[in-house]
This record gives sequence, C-alpha cells and structure tokens, in this order.
Amino acid sequence: MLRSLCLMAGLAATTFGAPLESRAVSAPPGGDITILNYALALEYLERKFYQEGINNYTESDFCDAGFDKEFYPNLMRIYEDEKTHVDFLSTALGKKAIGEPTFDFPVTDVHGFVGLAGVLEGVGVSAYLGAAAAIANKDYLTAAGSILTVFSLAAQFITGLAPNTNLPFKAFPTLTAGDPTKTGYKAGGKVVFKGAYKAAKAAGKSGGKVNAVFYSGLQTYYVPVVIGKNKIDYVATIPGADYATDGQPAPAGQVYITLSSADGKKVLAGDENTIAGVAIVEVIC
Ligand SMILES: *[C@@H]1O[C@H](CO)[C@@H](O)[C@H](O)[C@H]1NC(C)=O
Repeated sequence: MLRSLCLMAGLAATTFGAPLESRAVSAPPGGDITILNYALALEYLERKFYQEGINNYTESDFCDAGFDKEFYPNLMRIYEDEKTHVDFLSTALGKKAIGEPTFDFPVTDVHGFVGLAGVLEGVGVSAYLGAAAAIANKDYLTAAGSILTVFSLAAQFITGLAPNTNLPFKAFPTLTAGDPTKTGYKAGGKVVFKGAYKAAKAAGKSGGKVNAVFYSGLQTYYVPVVIGKNKIDYVATIPGADYATDGQPAPAGQVYITLSSADGKKVLAGDENTIAGVAIVEVIC
C-alpha cells in the first residue's frame, strides 16, 4: 500500500497527467469574484510557465535530458489548455478579471523545469485547477478550500500584480528547508528550517507553540518544531509511519511545509496564523 502510494507520488512528480479535458461549462455564479480571480491568477501562472518552457527549451533538449519524444508535444498541448482556461475565466469574469501578474520562475534547465512542473501539477494546483475548469459550481470551488495554501505556494513566483488588482494575498516570510543528512528527506527523518527561529523571534512569533504543517496529497500533518542547537533554526521530524495512528499514510513525494501557530485540533492552519512558508521538499520512500 505504502509502496504503491510512493510510486504514485513519484509519478505525479515526474510525469504530466493527461491534459485537463475540456468540459461543458457555464458562466460562474458571480458570487465569489475573489476566488475566481485566485483561480485566474493560477491559470496565468501556469500559462506563463508552460509558455516559457516551450520557448526556452527545444524538443531535443528534453530528449537529451532523457525524456521521451512525446514530452514536448505534451507540453504544447498543456500550454494550449492553459490558454483556454485563462480565456475562459477572463471572459467569465469580464471587467472584474484581474490582469496578468508578472512571474519569475527559478528555473535554469530542463530538469529544473520538469521539477517545478511536478510541484505545480503534482498535488495542489492541478487538483484545484481541475475544479477551476468546471468553475460553474461555486460550492465545488469553495470545497477545494486549499486554494489559499496553493495560492500562497504560487505567490512566491509572482513578482508583481497588474494595476488595480484587488487580490488579497500575503506573501509569507520565506521558509527554507535544509536536509541535515544530505541524503534526501525521509519519513521519520529531520528537516531543518534555516534561520526560521531567528526570523520568527524577530517578528514576535516564536513565543507560543510553533508547528510545522506538512501537506502531502490530501493529508495534513501538524508537527511541533524544536529550536535548533544554533538557536537560529527550527527543526521538525518529518511524519513517519508511526504517525499514522489514525491511518494516515506517511508523506511522500512533493510535500509542502508551512510554519503555523495553529495546532490542527482547535485551530486549523490558515493565512492568519501562518508564520512562514511555503517550503517544498521531496520526501523519498
Ligand atoms: C526562461 O528563460 C528566461 C530568460 O532566460 C528565464 O528568466 C526564465 O526563468 C526561464 N523560464 C523557464 C520556465 O525556464
């Protein structure tokens, strides 16, 4: 079971799912312009990302890097899909649609591109955007309540918003994960958040309980952090199989982490209690 989960997570991180099918859609209900604009911002982001991918790299770059012949045509198809999604949402939102933000992706080669595509497609964004394509159903969107987490993750690639954009989002203080073993993050192992204690202290946020919140697929885990020996970092234990008291699988594949004062019991992690994030780590099986 665990093994197949790991395999699936690995696949999700390295291959693209079939492009989203076009679905029969009708106009959005108009109630939640903000949520729809978050969705539009994410669609802009994906469109730009794939556009840069097909412009920056050639088919033979991907082949040379070991990806098969289908890879490049697939990227082009995904890009076309993203264009359609942007058009759909912009048209549906009409005058209320935000303009395109500017983005900066920390990518310099084919491997970096595919890795980041895995992050964007792997867990949150594609699951959420699947819903965005069928945006007519507002309840469905609201139920995909991970939008803010997803958006905060995506927000780190946004360098500027278009004028008159009314899109409330906070870019949280950066969270940088370090691997103390240098052999890869493993369930049950440690992750170091570099400088995070010092930063939280400076911001007056180190006083109460601080939890590392791990998002892996649909699972969320709250793990208390400890202050590193250097009195600069925070350190957390990556949830392991022993965490699975309530049957949760251990995190695997691309995992997102935030620091939060929420405990996951009385209070759930959200924008208002997030201290830093989002860090992205790859947990290997
Ligand atoms: C594409 O190339 C530009 C210019 O070098 C660079 O700024 C950008 O990050 C690259 N994007 C991707 C996705 O590779």
